Parts: sequence; C-alpha cells; structure tokens
Amino acid sequence: MAQHTTYWPAERMRTGIQEAAAALAAGGVVAFPTETVYGLGGDARSTETVKRIFAAKGRPSDNPLIVHFARAEDVESVAARVNEIERKLMEAFWPGPLTLVLPAKEGAVSPLVTAGLDTVAVRVPEHEAARELIGLSGCPIAAPSANRSGRPSPTRASHVLEDLDGRIDGVLDGGETGVGLESTVVRVIGREVHVLRPGGVTREQLQAAVGSLAEVAGTPEAEGASGANAAADEAPRSPGVKYAHYAPQGEMVLATGPEERLPAAVQRLADEASARGRKVAIICCTEHVASYKADAVLDCGSRDEPEQAARALYALLRECDARGVDYIVAEGYPEEGIGAALMNRLRKAAGGRESRV
Ligand code: TXA
Ligand code: MG
Repeated sequence: MAQHTTYWPAERMRTGIQEAAAALAAGGVVAFPTETVYGLGGDARSTETVKRIFAAKGRPSDNPLIVHFARAEDVESVAARVNEIERKLMEAFWPGPLTLVLPAKEGAVSPLVTAGLDTVAVRVPEHEAARELIGLSGCPIAAPSANRSGRPSPTRASHVLEDLDGRIDGVLDGGETGVGLESTVVRVIGREVHVLRPGGVTREQLQAAVGSLAEVAGTPEAEGASGANAAADEAPRSPGVKYAHYAPQGEMVLATGPEERLPAAVQRLADEASARGRKVAIICCTEHVASYKADAVLDCGSRDEPEQAARALYALLRECDARGVDYIVAEGYPEEGIGAALMNRLRKAAGGRESRV
C-alpha cells in the first residue's frame, strides 16, 4: 500500500491544518497531534476510510476506535443518549484526555469503528490544532493512536513516520505531545464509573468530579492479567486491553518495590543480562541515573513527578529499539495520580515480566 505521505511541519501549521482538513473531508487518513499521543484520523462515517486506518496500523478488527470531536455538543450525532454522570464528566474534563464509552446511535458511524458493539467511544481533545482540524474537516474523526499495532504510541511526528510513512496520506507536526500517555477510557454503568483504561485523567480526578453522584470502580487490570474470567464477565472491558501493547522490540522487565531497594536490584538484573551477552538499557528515575552502569542508562524523569515519566516513556522505548537494545530493565514508579497509568503501560510493555524486589 505504498503511497505518498505529506509532512506538514510545525512552522506551517496554519496551511497544514487547512490541507489536512481537506484531506480528511475527502476520505483521507491523516495523523495529527493531540495532548495525549498522535492519532491517525479519518472520517468515522466512511467504511472505506476506516478500513484504511485498520490496514495502515495492522490493527485487529475487533478493537474499536475512539471518535473525536471539536465540541462536546457534537457527540450527540453519534451517541444515543448522555446521562447526568456522563454529562458531569464531559463538563469536568473536556476538552481533555478523557474518553467516554456511550450507547451508540445506530448507523451514525461505520460499524467497523465500533467493531460491531452497541457502544461508541467519544472524546474531545484539548490540543488546539486537533480541535481546529476536526472542526474544519466537518467529520466525526475516528482516530486510534498513530503507531503500528503493538508498538509504543507516538509522542512525536517522527515516531508516526517511523511506523507509517508510505501507509497514510499525511502527518501534521505539532511537536511533542503533552501528557505522553493515552486518554483514560471510562464507561458509566448505573452509579459506577468503570475505568476501562487508565490514562491522562486520574481516578482521583474522576472521583472528585462526580462527587457523591457515582463511585469510581475497579480497572480491568485488577482482574485482567490473572485471567479471572468470572470477574471479567461482569465488568465492562475495553477490547483493546487484551492485546500486547506499547512493546519495545527487546525483552523488558519491570522492577518494583521500595525505592531504597531498587538500585541494587535493577543493577543486578542488568548485570545478569549483560553476562548472557545481551545489550542492556536501564530506564530509571533522574535520582538514580548516576548510580547505574549499562549499555544505555535512560532518564525517565523525577520520581516525584510521574507526569515527566509519562511524557518521556514511549520515546525512550523507541530509543531502545533505535539503539538495538535487546534487554530493558525499567524501574517502577509510585502508582498515585498519573503514576497509575504509567505503571499500567510499563507492565504492558514488559509483557507482564515483573520483578518485585
Ligand atoms: O489518547 C487517546 O485516547 C488516543 C488519542 C489519539 O486520542 N487514542 C487512542 O486510541 O489511544 P486507541 O485506538 O489506541 O485506543 C482506544 C481504546 C482501545 O483500548 C479500545 O479498545 C477502546 O479505546 N475502545 C474504543 N471503543 C470502545 C468501546 N465501544 N467500548 C470499549 N472500549 C472501547
Ligand atoms: Mg493505541
């Protein structure tokens, strides 16, 4: 499916948005920045276009897409209804990194977008350029993250090109994304807000926004990895969470435990891998960088500011690939706030390999 991919640099953002919007309106697939990660957008109503999104990514067809809008009121074009709790969440977090799974209005988007489910995921991104682009295109924009399926999500336009050059119509460069991890995906059932995927909006923020109206309930990870099917049957799930995700090419292990024990344990894991002839990278907090020796020691940001690590993680995983690293030891971070989403992605990147120290 080789084709020409137009690159719109940040210096030509104005023209870029106009040309990219025209491409979207004409049924094209275009990557664009959001505040979380880059998305690969296309008209959600066009089955032809949505097919091209799945094909460019190599994405399994049973994993549905998020539909993006410029304004909250526009979601009514695809959602059958919005209840009081959902409305509260939209008011509190839109525009921003929250995705709501709502009952779908039949026939409003291509059935490929929802993978045949009777719900549709919707979000209004905060990124100016994203909202202008979507507004100008006049389309509801289906947009998964703009990476090849299974790879770390792109936080820079160069990551998009690495994965999708020649497979998509264009990419709008908006520089580095702010949050660095994907949106939080939630579904409201009765008086419970189920977090299907942790992300840019934290559980603490969700609970504060809904107050006594609703309770923020467990994440799918709680039942997911151990395969407790009874729990999984009852809890709503996001089809995407079952796939291997965000993975670097090398093998990765996540080291977790009390901070004072981490450095010695991480160095030992790295040394053992080196002794087996592996090219080893350590991904760690700023506070520990100087204490490590490995083929690469990559600074993921301060332990006290998980926001930094969230922003840096995907680029560092890609850097490991670029350097030909085949074994990665990553330090765990505290799980409060955005640290919960960060640890979720670290666990997935490590494919469940976790060493508790
Ligand atoms: O931050 C983000 O959300 C980025 C930017 C581009 O907006 N997008 C993104 O899309 O991460 P994607 O396709 O990589 O992840 C979408 C997630 C998947 O886990 C998918 O299973 C879930 O949302 N999802 C989509 N529609 C759903 C539905 N109807 N019910 C449950 N989960 C759904
Ligand atoms: Mg994705």
